[in-house]
Amino acid sequence: MCGIFGYIGKRDAKRIIVEGLKRLEYRGYDSWGIALLEKGKIHQYRDISEISTNKRILDLPCSNIGIGHTRWATHGGVSKKNAHPHISLTKDFTLVQNGIVENFEDLKKDLIAKHVTIKSETDTEIIVRLIEEARNKEKNLKESIISVFERLKGRNTIAVLDSKNGKIYAIRNGSPLILGIGKEEIFLASDTLSFSPYCKNIVVVDNLEMVEIEHNSFKVTDLTNSKVKNVTVTKLKYLYEDIDKGEYKHYMLKEIVEQSNTFINAIAYSEKDLQSLSKSIKQSSRVYIIGAGTAGFAAGQIAYFLRNIGGIDAQDLRSYEFASYLPIVKPTDLIVALSQSGETADTIEALEELKKKGCKIASLVNMLGTTISRLSDYQFFSNAGPEICVASTKVFTSQCVWGYILAKNIVGDLKGGKREILTLAKELKTFFSSKNLSSIDEISKKLVKQEHMFILGKGQNFNIALEGSLKIKEISYKHVEGFAAGELKHGVIALIEKGTVVFGILSNDRDSKDILSAMEQVKARGAFTIGIGDKKFKKKDVFDRYIVTPGRDIASSITNVIPFQLISYYLSVRLGNNIDKPRNLAKSVTVK
Ligand code: F6R
Repeated sequence: MCGIFGYIGKRDAKRIIVEGLKRLEYRGYDSWGIALLEKGKIHQYRDISEISTNKRILDLPCSNIGIGHTRWATHGGVSKKNAHPHISLTKDFTLVQNGIVENFEDLKKDLIAKHVTIKSETDTEIIVRLIEEARNKEKNLKESIISVFERLKGRNTIAVLDSKNGKIYAIRNGSPLILGIGKEEIFLASDTLSFSPYCKNIVVVDNLEMVEIEHNSFKVTDLTNSKVKNVTVTKLKYLYEDIDKGEYKHYMLKEIVEQSNTFINAIAYSEKDLQSLSKSIKQSSRVYIIGAGTAGFAAGQIAYFLRNIGGIDAQDLRSYEFASYLPIVKPTDLIVALSQSGETADTIEALEELKKKGCKIASLVNMLGTTISRLSDYQFFSNAGPEICVASTKVFTSQCVWGYILAKNIVGDLKGGKREILTLAKELKTFFSSKNLSSIDEISKKLVKQEHMFILGKGQNFNIALEGSLKIKEISYKHVEGFAAGELKHGVIALIEKGTVVFGILSNDRDSKDILSAMEQVKARGAFTIGIGDKKFKKKDVFDRYIVTPGRDIASSITNVIPFQLISYYLSVRLGNNIDKPRNLAKSVTVK
């Protein structure tokens, strides 16, 4: 969480940084700030309003050097005082941070005991005060930064603007740090998207490396041996010049509708591309598919496909629960990690531990140049393009689609799998252009006053029920619970009363009769029932409303999630919520 940005070059730094921060906003949008260097003096601006080139920013002097930050609060509330950058008392250097200083309380106590004044509630300011203290002991700024960084516990990345020599120093440990190397300009950021309109050449900074940037040059030092590193410059495939909402009011709706294309992008893998992973899967004793949140539900879906299509011993595992599985994980097990951002701390920690166990790792990531891809023996990309809305939609279905064709490839039917997905993508186009959108909006009207809703799924639609409920929760802030239809009679049915909204998800499979009978049971107790799925089950006596989704048989579960994404969207618009940036959330969860 939190986004870091730095720039040294030939352009107007304030414009480049504000633009970069807007693209990094998905990492945290509580508050933000920028610092510019002009004629040896640092000029700062921090705010809690939306990131923009406002009048106060325009009043800052012109400069070609600066750093910026967008915050997701961890220590201390949302205030200008807590926003980054945090400047030194003598105003000669200023610092931004992404991460959590886990030993912050101890470090703070030491400083207070030495009567050092602390102005904010952040762990970031503590780093600044410690650097000041180290520098007073006759060390130069660079050495002070290194010595203080070595004292910080946890996953942290910092960037420091030095007014004395016009350099930016940055050190990475955990939270991502990437350099963009342009013509006569260098960018430094938490991701590649933030500077992607300007350069394709990137250098991914590794953990415990320090970057030193000045005009037209940079140096990366490995802090474990103090040696300057020969860096590898990688070329990005795409330049995302325009990231905008197009004809849509919100990114969320744009990204939902894009799924008729992203389904196709997710199958851009040939038998040859999938061959070595498929072979490893067949040879492994067990496959664990891991992820958190939405990616965790996609993991469940892929595990289902691998078991039921591929006959593979596949088990989904929530990244943050990996520790309880460690005693049974074998070096012959294979791990498949799913992540939109590629930087999720829970997933990275799990992968690091599982790697130590000797497991091979495959990953499917949406962003380029990320930690999770770099930890992987087999790297795959979901190719969904930038997903800006904090709630994941198109990347979830891309992950499921990829898992589907992987399972099909394992049984030698990649062609058949791809054909089915192409048909789904085509049908989805019609689904989005038909009157479905307005009838889903109409259904969402019915939900505005509901405080509790339930979603029943089973088999291939079990994880769809979980993801559907997460989607509605995230943006509408309503309590929606997805659960296995089988659980109903074992307790949950006690919650059903007259008017309770219950969704049932139905594919043309053997589980549909159980969902139907569960829906009949809740209907008998007065529930308002909404069916989602195959047209065969559109029964007036069971369902008050029914949304028919594209697809047949097993792949149809992937499209069954889409009505939930749309309900989440239309309901939240009706509620007046912040669609693309829901409260308290951040898209890239780089802290634990
Ligand atoms: C929900 C959502 C989150 C993420 C989770 C993992 O809409 O986006 O639940 O799925 O934080 O993030 P990634 O996929 O970046 O590892």
